[in-house]
Amino acid sequence: MDYTTRHYCIYGEPVGHLHGRSAAVRMESGCQTAGGTRRKVFVMNQYNILLDPARMPDAWYNINPDMPVPMAPPLHPATLQPVGPEDLAPIFPMPLIEQEVSMQQYVSIPGEVMDAYRLYRPTPLRRALRFEKALGTPAKIYYKNESVSPSGSHKLNTAVAQAYFNKVSGINGLTTETGAGQWGTALSIACSMFNMSCDVYMVKVSFDQKPYRRSIMQTYGANVFASPTDRTDFGRRYRAEFPDTSGSLGIAITEAVEAAVTSGGALRYSLGSVLNHVLMHQTIIGQEAKLQLESIGEYPDMVIGCCGGGSNYAGTAWPFAHDKIKQGKNIDLIAVEPTACPTLTKGIYAYDFGDTGEMTPLLLQYTLGHKFVPPPLHSGGLRYHGVAAQVAHLTKLGVMRAVAYQQNTCFDAGVLFARCECILPAPESSHAIRAVMDEALKCKETGEAKTILFNLSGHGHFDMSAYEAYFSKKLEDYELDEEAIRKAEADIPKVPIPQ
Ligand SMILES: Cc1ncc(COP(=O)(O)O)c(C=O)c1O
Repeated sequence: MDYTTRHYCIYGEPVGHLHGRSAAVRMESGCQTAGGTRRKVFVMNQYNILLDPARMPDAWYNINPDMPVPMAPPLHPATLQPVGPEDLAPIFPMPLIEQEVSMQQYVSIPGEVMDAYRLYRPTPLRRALRFEKALGTPAKIYYKNESVSPSGSHKLNTAVAQAYFNKVSGINGLTTETGAGQWGTALSIACSMFNMSCDVYMVKVSFDQKPYRRSIMQTYGANVFASPTDRTDFGRRYRAEFPDTSGSLGIAITEAVEAAVTSGGALRYSLGSVLNHVLMHQTIIGQEAKLQLESIGEYPDMVIGCCGGGSNYAGTAWPFAHDKIKQGKNIDLIAVEPTACPTLTKGIYAYDFGDTGEMTPLLLQYTLGHKFVPPPLHSGGLRYHGVAAQVAHLTKLGVMRAVAYQQNTCFDAGVLFARCECILPAPESSHAIRAVMDEALKCKETGEAKTILFNLSGHGHFDMSAYEAYFSKKLEDYELDEEAIRKAEADIPKVPIPQ
């Protein structure tokens, strides 16, 4: 028989509610034959809310022009004057420096980056129906699933953008740090896409805990070093002073920056979080989520995400923060961090360095002091002494808030989620799941059917030593005491905050 088949579906068209309170979508599939198209319409339980690839946003959202109060500028540590493009040029290419200070509300995503996104985007939005049922909550829990990216987390969203802008600026190699290994993996993939070299300084404790993360980065052609290394001046000095150090993101950042600025212009540095442009690249997540929720007539009462440097959180929440700031939407924006590294909940609001070796500009942020080495908790991506200036600013202004959890309680939540939703979450993402669970349980008490959105920032397939420690009850909980906070205060430069 002469026929061609063409399967298609209409994405996210709501047709009401089926099976109790679960919403449903009408899907169509067709088979085009010589005699015309036969259509089969079926109704699907709404676990997956897919976005038509043609509707994937083609611009990043920049929150800077929408800030209720302008942010304080980053300062040069020697002059205490705002840093200029020339100060950043040895570290970053000009298009990224321009994005860092841009006051344009939307920044176009180049075609090459859109093509890279199309490998895995739009990512699904899922309703966690089984998780809701297990909790017995009337709350509706939706999660954006960034674990489907080839690197296993949200980090690829900025990695491809940063590699692209470096490449078109004539740079053929990048240096970076990685904590959990998720960022290093993402940048390795991005560099291999654009035929660039990639040197990854991996925090020593993660290097030891996660040998397979190292191997995956090597698969994509990256060179991976346990930080502190003996490849940099700072690494050698640090190792001499603290031979037993487990390393930290702050130390690894210093090494990667030093390697870039001493490369004679051949290499630039790439950061996986914290900076404005990185947070902006991640807004593809929240923008897609908004369209997906809109397609089923939903809008969140809460947006929850884990927070290390802040890009995952900001990427999910900023498109909704826009509605809160500009349209007065009543929406609870909650960032979740570990009690072992409670930057937003216990840190000091001050100008501080982004790295341990004092090579970066001073950023106004919440900080535990740039010399703080967090305990070796298993959420390597949340072991950062500071946080993005945008996140700090909106927390200070009360647009968003933060909560902190012990790691064991996050694993409890992550394991329950895995058993319900059949996705093994990264330990970092389990922090968000814990907070979602607590909010959903509050709804159970009050009877409120709140709509909760969270970002499942990554899968935990390379975190099995952490799960193993959890199941064998060897996972330690850490709480930062007041003395550590006082010590942090002593390490922070005394720079006046503009009023
Ligand atoms: C899976 C996962 N989620 C969240 C984070 C934290 O991301 P951010 O630094 O953007 O807050 C990381 C960082 O490595 C991560 O690997």
